[in-house]
Amino acid sequence: MDTDARQPLIVDSQSLGRRGKLPRHIAIIMDGNGRWAQQRGLNRAEGHRAGVQALKPIVKECAALGIQVLTVYAFSTENWARPQVEVNALWDLLVEFLRSETPELKAEGVRIQTIGNVGALPPRAQRAIDAAKHDTAEQTRMVLNLALNYGGRDELVRAVNRWLDEQRPVPEERYVTANAIAQHLDTAGLPDPDLLIRSSGELRISNFLLWQLAYAEIYVTTTLWPDFNPMELHKAIHAYQNRDRRFGGLRE
Ligand code: FPP
Repeated sequence: MDTDARQPLIVDSQSLGRRGKLPRHIAIIMDGNGRWAQQRGLNRAEGHRAGVQALKPIVKECAALGIQVLTVYAFSTENWARPQVEVNALWDLLVEFLRSETPELKAEGVRIQTIGNVGALPPRAQRAIDAAKHDTAEQTRMVLNLALNYGGRDELVRAVNRWLDEQRPVPEERYVTANAIAQHLDTAGLPDPDLLIRSSGELRISNFLLWQLAYAEIYVTTTLWPDFNPMELHKAIHAYQNRDRRFGGLRE
């Protein structure tokens, strides 16, 4: 049930570049690790480990294609409700990923950033994030934006509260504006996603980038995240290039 099943299966990166506009910002909901593990009689943590392995070539391919921002939903504000052992495994995987991949990401010009309430993460995760951000701060080719303890509603509440804090002690503005909200979101300074990819077939956005996805094109594939590969990415971008983006108007 790919949302764009009529698209050809093989799309190479050169032809993607020639065909039309590339998305500036791709956001991905990396869903299906648990089902992938279950199908193989593995535990859920092993599914997430396979999910991290799937992420690495996607990051590299996005950078190679000239995508400016890649945002991936790694842990939501709701994921704390999972068994403690699974939550801990996710933080261990994050630390391992950042420690092992940061040098190569840096060499490829990737800057690591985060969105979400990172201050509530276990200290070992925060230390690894701080180090990765610090080490890649000068890179300009692509931003890899990790959504960690992220929820769209939580981000909006924090954004409005940050704006309200700036209005004290003497209010400068009486009413909040769309611009003021955008400038106080965790994604301030980044373009909104053009393309949202969701793996594993679920048709929902699960509290991801509620504000920023207003005009994103949505691509859903039944492929489970650990099986998602650069060819699947090409298919999603190819589908995006065939969409007619109108932003509420008539034609782009
Ligand atoms: C959803 O699959 C996936 C997650 C909740 C976590 C996504 C995390 C990773 C891909 C790895 C961690 C990332 C980094 C950067 C270290 P699910 O478990 O809900 O799958 P299911 O719906 O099949 O159960």
